Amino acid sequence: MMQTRAAVLYEAGKPVVIEEITLDAPRQGEILVRMEAAGVCHSDLHVRDGSLPEPMPIVLGHEGTGVIAEVGPGVTGFEVGDRVVLTWVPSCGQCYFCQRGQTHLCTTAGAMGVQGTLRDGTSRMHLGDKNLHHFLAVSCFSEYVVVPQEGAAKIPADVPMEVAAVLGCAVLTGVGAVERTAGVRPGESVAVIGCGGVGLNVIQAASLSGAYPIIAVDINPEKLKMAQSFGASHTINSREQEALREVRRITQLGVDWAFEVLGNPRTIEQAWSLIRAGGTAVVVGLAPRTSTITLPAFEFIIEKSIRGCFYGSSRFHADVPALLKRIQAGRMRIEGMVSHTAPLDELETAFERMRRGDGARTIIRFPSA
Ligand code: APR
Ligand code: ZN
Ligand code: ZN
Repeated sequence: MMQTRAAVLYEAGKPVVIEEITLDAPRQGEILVRMEAAGVCHSDLHVRDGSLPEPMPIVLGHEGTGVIAEVGPGVTGFEVGDRVVLTWVPSCGQCYFCQRGQTHLCTTAGAMGVQGTLRDGTSRMHLGDKNLHHFLAVSCFSEYVVVPQEGAAKIPADVPMEVAAVLGCAVLTGVGAVERTAGVRPGESVAVIGCGGVGLNVIQAASLSGAYPIIAVDINPEKLKMAQSFGASHTINSREQEALREVRRITQLGVDWAFEVLGNPRTIEQAWSLIRAGGTAVVVGLAPRTSTITLPAFEFIIEKSIRGCFYGSSRFHADVPALLKRIQAGRMRIEGMVSHTAPLDELETAFERMRRGDGARTIIRFPSA
C-alpha cells in the first residue's frame, strides 16, 4: 500500500481534483507502474464532460508510459525497471474474441472497462474509505498505477517516453483503422473527417499505405496544416467549404474510404455521403451513447458500406513492437502530434485546450521522470 497523487473526477461536468490517494500493492498478475508520460485523449474529455458515462469517482487517463516499480505474484515476463507502454484493452487470451485473434474485442477487458475495476472486480485505488474507479484498467492520470500485466508492453531504452506515450491509444487506433480495420490499398482514395490526435494517425497511415488522394476535413485551419504535414494531399475546411462538393470535385465519384474520427452523428452521416458506390465509411470516433444516425437506405443498392472500428482493430502485443520498429527506423513520425507538455496539476487546462481545439495532443509529464 502506498500514497500517490492522482486526478480524481467526482462528477461529470466538474473539474478533476488532484488528490493524495491510497494505492494497493499489485495482486495476482498485476504490476505497479511509476508513470512518466500520459497523453490526454478526447475520450478522457468525453468522460470529464459527461458524453461518455462512467462509474464515479474515477481516475481518468488511458494512454501512457512508465517504469515498472513492483511486480505482483504470478507476473511473468516483466521485471522492476522495465520501461512499458500501457493499453486500455488488456486482453485475456482466453475469451471467444481473443481466441479468434480479435483481441481488441476481449470480453474480459471490456468487463473491466464497464465495471471500472481490475480483473477480480475490485479497485486498487482508494480515498479514505471510498473506492475510486479505474478507467479502462489504466487510470494513468496518477503518479503510480496498478494495471494487469496484459495491459503493458516493453519499450526499448532509446525510444523517448513522450514518443511512446501516444502509442497506446492515438497511434494504435489511427494506424489500426487504416491497416487493420480497412486495409487501405495503394491508389485508393481516402477522406478523414476530424484531424486531431487520432485523425493525424489515420492520415499518416493512409499515406504510408500509398493512398491517393488523401483529403483531410476539419473545421480548424491549424489542424488542416498539421494534416498536410502528415500526408494529406488535399484539405477541406468544412466550416467554409461544402465538403461533399469539394470531395466530388477532387475525386468525381467520391472516396473509397471515409474515416470519421470525431464521434459526431452528423459527421458520421457526412462520411457516408462522401464515399463512392462500393466505398466504405469507417467510424473511428466515439459517438455519445444514446445518439443515432440517419442514412439514406436506398444507397445500399450501390453497395455503400459503413463499419465500426474499435481501437483500430489492433492487436496490442503484436502491433506495438512493429510500430516501435517503424518509429525507430524513421518510417513513422510522432513528433508534431504532441503540441504541449504539462504537469498533472494542469490537466484541466489541457482539457480546456482540447475543447477549444488548440494544438494537437497534450502530454502530462510526471515529476520523477
Ligand atoms: N467537422 C470536422 N472536424 C471537426 C468538427 C466538424 N464538425 N468538429 C471538430 N472537428 C475536429 C477538431 O477540430 C479536431 O481537430 O475534430 C478533431 C478532434 O480531434 P481531438 O479533439 O484531438 O480528438 P481525438 O483525441 O483525435 O479523438 C477523436 O476518437 O478515440 C475517439 O473518443 C475519441 O471520439 C474521439 C475521436
Ligand atoms: Zn484514447
Ligand atoms: Zn479476451
